[in-house]
Amino acid sequence: MPQLIAGNWKMHKTRAEAVALAASLRAAPIPPGARLLVCPPFTALAAVAEALAGSAIAVGGQDCHMAPQGPHTGDISAPMLKEAGAGFVILGHSERRQNHGETSEQVREKVLAAVAAGLTPIVCVGETADQRANGAETDTVGWQISGSLPAGFAGVVAYEPVWAIGTGRTPTPEEVAAMHGFIRAELTRQFAAAGAGVAILYGGSVNAGNAAGLLGLPEVGGALVGGASLTAEAFLAIAAAAR
Ligand code: PGA
Repeated sequence: MPQLIAGNWKMHKTRAEAVALAASLRAAPIPPGARLLVCPPFTALAAVAEALAGSAIAVGGQDCHMAPQGPHTGDISAPMLKEAGAGFVILGHSERRQNHGETSEQVREKVLAAVAAGLTPIVCVGETADQRANGAETDTVGWQISGSLPAGFAGVVAYEPVWAIGTGRTPTPEEVAAMHGFIRAELTRQFAAAGAGVAILYGGSVNAGNAAGLLGLPEVGGALVGGASLTAEAFLAIAAAAR
């Protein structure tokens, strides 16, 4: 199974800029070890999906509401994302958990909504610097998994240590391998057969220089990339390290 290399464009790129980046990605050969996914801001999602239609590059949203429609000013539903051309949706990113107060219970509701709409959820988990300093990283991630993933979960999990996001710092290979092994064991324990097929991405300051080392670790099923997904060159250099 090729590794999933997912670009989280966050609040970057106008529609025109997003379409230009999508066109550059589309024009390049996809490295054989990689499956590519880009997650543009909502305003650019449909245009990017159109620009990538018929290519092997998938498109995803960065969040969705748990309800299919309703009085929720500023929110976007999973069926809306699906109709705009998304196949995936990132849920429970630490920037949503921290800046928007999202709880694991809410993330679980969103996962159910995404699956009901035919989207593959990518559920983010990860400890803060303080939690790691206190030796609470596995407890934190274990609770996030049991709280955020519904029974029968068969999507994607992304391990993103909060302190590694956008900082240029990454855990050591031993720390990544240990956490991915723990997540795999928890998925298998909590979700039996379904959990065994779940890809576990690593995210947090992935770049062309560290991608091969991170992607070569056991139980690392791909990467969730922020800053280095904003140019085709940097993103494809990471994808080239996939196996
Ligand atoms: P980063 O972001 O690659 O810029 O550290 C990763 C993420 O937040 O998904």
